Amino acid sequence: MTVLLESPARREPADRVARPRQFLMCPPDHFDVSYAINPWMDTTRPTDVALARRQWDRLREVYLELGHTVHVIEPRPELPDMVFAANGGLVIGGRALGARFAHPQRAAEAPAYLDWLRGHGLRSVTEAEHVNEGEGDFLVVDSGDERERLVLAGTGFRTSANAHDEAQELFGLPVVSLRLVDPRYYHLDTALAVLDERTVAYYPGAFSAGSREVLRRLFPDAVLADAADAAVLGLNAVSDGRNVVLAERATGLAARLRERGFHTVGVDLSELLKAGGGAKCCTLEIRS
Ligand code: ARG
Repeated sequence: MTVLLESPARREPADRVARPRQFLMCPPDHFDVSYAINPWMDTTRPTDVALARRQWDRLREVYLELGHTVHVIEPRPELPDMVFAANGGLVIGGRALGARFAHPQRAAEAPAYLDWLRGHGLRSVTEAEHVNEGEGDFLVVDSGDERERLVLAGTGFRTSANAHDEAQELFGLPVVSLRLVDPRYYHLDTALAVLDERTVAYYPGAFSAGSREVLRRLFPDAVLADAADAAVLGLNAVSDGRNVVLAERATGLAARLRERGFHTVGVDLSELLKAGGGAKCCTLEIRS
């Protein structure tokens, strides 16, 4: 008997189902580029806090319009990068792993986020032993079915490979290590976006040869982003399974996503891009 393997049918937007999410965000009220810990950050270029706040407000509004819940954590004056909430931890199934930052400039964000997580009724909140920058480097592929959940984990610039092991032990989920090789794409979420339970988009140039092969094997139908879309942090996107919120300048990537049946929502976060961040960086998912 011959079994014909069907290639997954192209889905229309109406077929894709959005799952409502719980997000944590931090307003950029103290945003600034006062130190440089990635190649995007130029301390001589002025920043506009009011504009950053308007752009962030719009992002939050987009999430609310899409039916998601947005929790807000109080920003701290001495922490200009605290707006990048994705780095504050990793929360799966009501269990949280706190962050431990690679650079001293961001170290105090870890306890601030831990405090918030401790106050929000999670099953457990664990302080990290090894350096990890939360959902900056840990991305969850989640179908809603426990058996298919897995975690993609970046290393090379920030999160240590030991932290991948730490996350695997804590959550009991398979953690797939991916090596980042381009300093502009220093966190996994700058080079790869999870779109639905089995689709990701990524920029191959950000990964080592071995990691590219792993991604090809795991996601043969992935959406591949080109250098231009990656360079405006188009991959720093947030998907709810149907709607993908991404940089409005990533027009090529948005077109490819629409061809695959996603609905795209463009946002302008030009101020936060000066610190090397985009939509996903501003957004930590709280998975209860
Ligand atoms: N300036 C911040 C840093 O370099 C940006 C963090 C962006 N966050 C992210 N999830 N990629 O740490």
